[in-house]
Amino acid sequence: MCFGLVLISGAPYLPTLKNQIDTIFDFAQLNPGDTIIELGCGDGRMLIAAAKRDMNAVGYELNPILFVICWLRTLRFRGKVTVKFADFWGSNWPNADAVYVFLLPRLMPALERKIIKEEPRGIKVISFAFDFPGLKPLKMKNGILLYEFTPEVDSSP
Ligand SMILES: C[S@@+](CC[C@H](N)C(=O)[O-])C[C@H]1O[C@@H](n2cnc3c(N)ncnc32)[C@H](O)[C@@H]1O
Repeated sequence: MCFGLVLISGAPYLPTLKNQIDTIFDFAQLNPGDTIIELGCGDGRMLIAAAKRDMNAVGYELNPILFVICWLRTLRFRGKVTVKFADFWGSNWPNADAVYVFLLPRLMPALERKIIKEEPRGIKVISFAFDFPGLKPLKMKNGILLYEFTPEVDSSP
């Protein structure tokens, strides 16, 4: 039931594979101490990979079973990994250097708007397979797409 309910506000659970996780970090070009946010962090595998690379990671997960699994799996990285049992749509995201998402095609237009709102200074976004309608990916490999959201220009007088 938990896995079904998440479909109302998000995407079903399917994990990112190991070689794709390597591509995420290859694309993101983050430094130790940088922060990556994962929207829908599943079992925590990407958060753990970030912590092992000496980065900070913040994951949002709405499925309570996956949240508990993720929370337990990331326990030994607690200094670097934060897991939030929360809907990322209704949350204010922390400052970060990159965002990773693996959701659904139908969510990408709304997600593009949410990223622009949450990250007005611009940010790198890595998406599993699915395109943002208003942007062109800078790179693609192993089903992973790299996007750069540029800073919003304030055109008010
Ligand atoms: C396709 S899975 C990807 C899991 C993980 N990111 C990975 O790549 O291994 C999508 C995940 O997003 C979670 N999710 C979907 N909508 C969400 C929402 N609105 N807030 C938080 N988590 C959500 C689902 O429960 C699921 O675990």
